[in-house]
Amino acid sequence: MDLVKFFHMNGGVGDASYLNNSGLQRMGIMKTRRIIEEAISNLCKSNIIKYPKTLVMADLGCSLGPNTLLVGSMVIDEVAKTSQEMGLNPPEVQINLNDLPTNDFNTIFCALHEREKKLNTEKITDVHYSPPSCYFTGVPGSYFGRLFPAESLNFVHSSYSLHWLSQLPKLREINKGNVYLASTTPESVSKAYYEQFQADFLQFLRCRSEEMMVGGRMVLTFAGRTTEDPRGEESYYYLWRPLAMALQEMVSEGLVDEVKLDSFNLPWFTASPTEIMKLVEIEGSFTIDHIEIFDVNWEAWKTKKYDNDNDNDASTDDNGVGHAVAKSVRAGIETLVANHLVKQ
Ligand SMILES: C[S@@+](CC[C@H](N)C(=O)[O-])C[C@H]1O[C@@H](n2cnc3c(N)ncnc32)[C@H](O)[C@@H]1O
Repeated sequence: MDLVKFFHMNGGVGDASYLNNSGLQRMGIMKTRRIIEEAISNLCKSNIIKYPKTLVMADLGCSLGPNTLLVGSMVIDEVAKTSQEMGLNPPEVQINLNDLPTNDFNTIFCALHEREKKLNTEKITDVHYSPPSCYFTGVPGSYFGRLFPAESLNFVHSSYSLHWLSQLPKLREINKGNVYLASTTPESVSKAYYEQFQADFLQFLRCRSEEMMVGGRMVLTFAGRTTEDPRGEESYYYLWRPLAMALQEMVSEGLVDEVKLDSFNLPWFTASPTEIMKLVEIEGSFTIDHIEIFDVNWEAWKTKKYDNDNDNDASTDDNGVGHAVAKSVRAGIETLVANHLVKQ
């Protein structure tokens, strides 16, 4: 399964799009806001002698929709604030938006155009608002390879992407009845998943260590787990078990071939903090300032209590949290399901 060729979140602006079903991920990004702001502020302050003319950041696995520009906006605001506190003109900000080649970059570029028009209006009406000049670039490609010139990045951000593996690991046994690691998964399957994650994460760190400048900062948010055994069902229960049950139902109705379902597993792995700390140490280029686990508050998501400015978020609706979760799962993995179960 070559993910680079076809994997992407649902594009466009429709009901099943990632753009309209990414409230859960937005909730996670809002939780990391303080950490992002602190990283940018420290970055600006640490370069006080040779104040950088340009702050270059990359958002890896940016997808499309409101979240894509959310982190960039946080960075721009923090650069403006810190520069003002330091009595310096803000550096220009370059934001590289990266995702796999089949991501819907066009929808992002259209949103950028709208943003620019809005900013120009704000500049005219609010004399106190002077954001740094900002330049956006789309960078298609896998972050498991090099994407940027050596020592060119000050800040790297990635949210809700690094739990996706570069490929489905080769499995020696069938993960019968499951589409991800679950309590009934054979140990060899669980081991193969971890080995794939280990290889991918180390490769990710190696590439970033070459691309980032000394003193650069990185904020990574991804789905994780609190149990030592990856078959602990934390994410499986809410996200993947309902999918597995629905697909099994389709097998019993003759709509899906059982053999195909037996070989369908998600290229996804939720690591534990211990695993992450160990891999960062093995790779050796980075030190961890801060590592934190936070829960997904499904009820807050449903009742829109996770931030103040998302009243238009279409991923929350009156049909309950289950419906919102199902739509979010569909926006994320429809291409995987279609590619494996329909096209092969
Ligand atoms: C759930 S979306 C997260 C989007 C956004 N960062 C957010 O927090 O809402 C995950 C994104 O990671 C991208 N992705 C997965 N593997 C990738 C890889 N190897 N290189 C670049 N992007 C990747 C997917 O295409 C998808 O757009």
